[in-house]
Amino acid sequence: MDKNKQSQNVRTVWWEEDASSAYVCMIDQTLLPGRVVTLRLTHENEVAHAITTLQVRGAPAIGVTAAFGIALALRRFAQEQRTANADATVEQACERVQGVGAMLCQTRPTAVNLSWAVQRMMRRAASKYASVAELVRALRDEAHTIATEDAAACAQMGIYGAELIADGDTLLTHCNAGALATVGSGTALAPLYTAHKAGKHIHVFVDETRPVLQGARLTAWELQQAGVPLTLITDSMAGHFMRYGNIKAVFVGADRIAANGDVANKIGTYSVAVLAHAHAIPFYVVAPCSTVDLTLASGEAIPIEQRSREEITRIHGVPIAPEGVHVANPAFDVTPHRYVTAIVTERGIARPVYKDILHVLCGARDAEEQLLRKE
Ligand code: MRU
Repeated sequence: MDKNKQSQNVRTVWWEEDASSAYVCMIDQTLLPGRVVTLRLTHENEVAHAITTLQVRGAPAIGVTAAFGIALALRRFAQEQRTANADATVEQACERVQGVGAMLCQTRPTAVNLSWAVQRMMRRAASKYASVAELVRALRDEAHTIATEDAAACAQMGIYGAELIADGDTLLTHCNAGALATVGSGTALAPLYTAHKAGKHIHVFVDETRPVLQGARLTAWELQQAGVPLTLITDSMAGHFMRYGNIKAVFVGADRIAANGDVANKIGTYSVAVLAHAHAIPFYVVAPCSTVDLTLASGEAIPIEQRSREEITRIHGVPIAPEGVHVANPAFDVTPHRYVTAIVTERGIARPVYKDILHVLCGARDAEEQLLRKE
């Protein structure tokens, strides 16, 4: 199978390589839905910039991007050494890998998939290598493995999550947790795609997701491309439609899930969860185990990214608020676990009490990564 193939018709991030160079490629998500433009990045600083500016976004997608970014940086380092007739040691190459990994981890703090992917690359780099060329190949392969595993996890979450959807259901989602946020079919949207493909007639209410409009620009676009019926609403309409719109369930993704099941996701998710609770509507979180951070006892400890005031005060560069107004712009919020009906992972569906079941589902295989993250 083509290593770069994504199961949906939209490819989010992938690797290209020829004799002279390698490229981390991605759709520039800041330009969607108006234009579908592909970026071909050759330097790790460009990769960091793409993550920071949301050209690529979504927790699993930025993890995969960071992994490819490290592979890219190492390949370029090796090439520079050859061109300069210098002979870098494997240790020097590993130092470069660590520096780039640390730099990429600084880009966005909330989604744990990023540091998880960087740690995996570090672990792979820590094995014994006979040459820098061998290390370059190993890290490129590891990045591809992370991408392949993400696509497989999406497919599996789709299968598990679709069991929660009945024919004729109207659902609601917030932000974008679809193909654009992963390298597969998505997290929260994967069950919807699976149900739709199985012939279930579903209808999706899509919150626009202020301030960056991931719902309006990205989720509405990709659902439309896939032929899934949808209605776009503003965030403030969610309560109204839960009351009168016959919404049967809410599906959202996650950027980090603490050991007790508290969920950090796009700002506004918490309000949606409280509304769902008030209307006795199931609130499902769909996320791979790479999003579960068992080192954090509760959501209180999840770092929340603060983004620029301009995301609030301007739309497409046009001011919509008085000059100099005080602004707050947390990019994520934390939904307490008591509002979460179930967490769908690629290893099964977790229901309360989360602190027990999340350890069982996501603990064993990730033990080493959790330890590394703690250090
Ligand atoms: O700021 P973003 O667009 O990266 O935020 C994305 C989200 O909050 C998603 O819901 C989350 O990453 C899950 S994506 C599968």
